[in-house]
Amino acid sequence: METSGLDLEQAALAQRDNLTTLQSHILAGERQHPGATGTFSWILSALSLSAKVISAKIRRARLMDVLGSVDNVNVQGERQQKLDVIANETLLRCLGKRTGVAIVASEENEEPLILRTSPGPDQRYCVLFDPLDGSSNLDTCGGVGTIFSILQHDPSVAPERSVLQPGARQVAAGYILYGSSTVFVFTAGAGVSMFVLDPSIGAFLKVADDVRIPASGKTYSLNEGNRPTFPAGYQRYLEYAQQNGYSSRYAGAMVADVHRILLQGGVFLYPPTKKAPDGKLRLMYEANPMAMIVEQAGGKAIAGKERILDLAPQTLHQRTSVVMGSPDEVAHVLRFL
Ligand code: AHG
Ligand code: MN
Ligand code: MN
Repeated sequence: METSGLDLEQAALAQRDNLTTLQSHILAGERQHPGATGTFSWILSALSLSAKVISAKIRRARLMDVLGSVDNVNVQGERQQKLDVIANETLLRCLGKRTGVAIVASEENEEPLILRTSPGPDQRYCVLFDPLDGSSNLDTCGGVGTIFSILQHDPSVAPERSVLQPGARQVAAGYILYGSSTVFVFTAGAGVSMFVLDPSIGAFLKVADDVRIPASGKTYSLNEGNRPTFPAGYQRYLEYAQQNGYSSRYAGAMVADVHRILLQGGVFLYPPTKKAPDGKLRLMYEANPMAMIVEQAGGKAIAGKERILDLAPQTLHQRTSVVMGSPDEVAHVLRFL
């Protein structure tokens, strides 16, 4: 007998007897830490709220005439899209109200924003983010994302130094993918959980706990147009991959590319190029949080031969090369470097 669409929907609904929202997941996590004050949960709820607002704005962008760029170039030397500005303001507004946040830093702002100059016992966190990743995909309805990294604020150093901690010290990290659905992927250092926004009730519902990346996957994801200027090792890796039946997949938004690899296996690469000799991606709010997610899911993340999470940051907007994904695939790349 043929299965109708209605049958499929009803079967799926019947299985959803144990609904866990992102909010309840966060509160359950808080209860596992006896001394928890709720500060951290309050910050996550600001990120969840931002994600809903940004998602709604992206989905209506064409209707509201907020596609395209503004007449401004950000600190990275990149032309800002209108939605880069809107997403950045949304995050700043939502996080700025949370007293637990001492400092925020964004791809779109040259300097970190010191929100609370005299941190009390409660002003304990720095939140770094890429408000919209892959924003050049916006005009064509391609996947875009938001990436965030949460560090413990270190009041013993100058505020500008407090945000410059190695990725291994991240307390939590995550990303939101605004794709065919809006997905919130998050780790607080004890595995990776995944939530999908149900727009009909306005809540992120848990769809997976303890996400594990496949150990291998014959897919590489990189901008092959840059191949002639990659260092020789990356070019040799590409020859190896192509001789061994690999497929190429590239969305042009790190969040979308890494999300696919997290679920299906493979490797994401942004090597050094002639145009970007240190790599293009930003360490503090792109590479580090994505590396934490990938490692927490059982994958690997390297820059050259070094573990990304061990890199000692010098500046907020510094760039790095990136290779991350399934552990066996990252190991293949490493053999050629
Ligand atoms: P952003 O839109 O935040 O500046 O990031 C774009 C990044 C990243 O998402 C993506 O992987 C990469 O740039 C794509 O770069 P190319 O267009 O050079 O391939
Ligand atoms: Mn980005
Ligand atoms: Mn961005």
